[in-house]
Amino acid sequence: MNVLVTGGAGYIGSHTVLSLLTEGYQVIVYDNLCNASEQSLKRVEALTGKTVTFIQGDVNDKTLLSSTFKQHKIDSVIHFAALKAVGESSQIPLQYFQNNVSGSLSLLEIMAENQIEKFIFSSSATVYGEENQAPYVESYKLGSPSSPYGATKVMVERIMNDFAIAMPSFKGVSLRYFNPIGAHESGQIGEDPKGIPNNLLPFVAQVAVGKREKLTIFGDDYPTHDGSCLRDYLHVMDLAEGHVAALQWLNNNPDFYGVEAFNLGTGTGTSVFEIVSAFEKATDITIPFEVSPRRAGDLPAFWADASKANKALHWQAKRDLTTMMKDTWRWQSANPNGYE
Ligand SMILES: NC(=O)c1ccc[n+]([C@@H]2O[C@H](COP(=O)([O-])OP(=O)(O)OC[C@H]3O[C@@H](n4cnc5c(N)ncnc54)[C@H](O)[C@@H]3O)[C@@H](O)[C@H]2O)c1
Repeated sequence: MNVLVTGGAGYIGSHTVLSLLTEGYQVIVYDNLCNASEQSLKRVEALTGKTVTFIQGDVNDKTLLSSTFKQHKIDSVIHFAALKAVGESSQIPLQYFQNNVSGSLSLLEIMAENQIEKFIFSSSATVYGEENQAPYVESYKLGSPSSPYGATKVMVERIMNDFAIAMPSFKGVSLRYFNPIGAHESGQIGEDPKGIPNNLLPFVAQVAVGKREKLTIFGDDYPTHDGSCLRDYLHVMDLAEGHVAALQWLNNNPDFYGVEAFNLGTGTGTSVFEIVSAFEKATDITIPFEVSPRRAGDLPAFWADASKANKALHWQAKRDLTTMMKDTWRWQSANPNGYE
């Protein structure tokens, strides 16, 4: 089966491509490389001994998308391609809506023209917004995230729901990721942020490798057990396997039409201080840090109720926090400058 993976050269995409190839799928990656390197795919090929068809293109380029669908007999689409920096999205909101929302519209339009029905979308826990209480459950109403980035995820979910009503043969899955961290156990592929990392663990790893002096922890006065924010961290390979499980679920349920959302998380919250000490314990490296005031828009604590994915997709996050830390460090220490 041919799967088109948009954004497949990126962090989560490359790990998912690896899992798809391992499970016997043929993969066509469509990525404009605005936040990735083709190197990730070369390494995936070396790790799996299989080939990936790579097309460098933008999801807003309908002509190229159309010819890609015609050329490759695509059976299903996994749509990762998006800009993802929450802070940046407030500075350049139009680019975020253009890239993430308009790009998804183009993709759905060209899919419909080519009668392709199976669509898996990279959504996020951010769609629950500030109004819902943790643990987040899929039955909650979509919230109002504070950032334009979060708003793009809510909008695409909304578009999928409306599209499914207008096109009854549509089979959509929205995967709401919590906080993916870690890297493939080989240390060959991993997260390679450009510039200053926005996420906690890549920052910690860059401090450990000597690229940054110290970690800044934003806020130690939250109403949590140690005052720092709590998130549901899951291993990126568990997340990758969640995509394969969702695709299998679509393939095994030919009578399913519409859109179904699934949380992909471990179901447990871990604090920033706990992450730092887990990393130190797993690597024997001390992470210097300072505490500064809270960052605008950060919620104190959220984690997933992952029972729906556990039951329906037969998927469960398997890798523990120590594995996440060790795998992050294996990748970062072997590739201090990422794929460069
Ligand atoms: N990493 C996280 O913490 C997280 C959490 C929740 C949801 N997500 C979502 O998961 C998806 C993948 O995230 P990631 O962490 O792997 O990010 P990433 O930046 O590593 O991957 C995104 C990929 O999409 C590509 N891309 C971006 N815009 C494109 C366009 N217009 N056309 C073609 N390619 C384009 C980039 O080059 C990159 O390879 C994104 O949709 C993101 O919003 C990520």
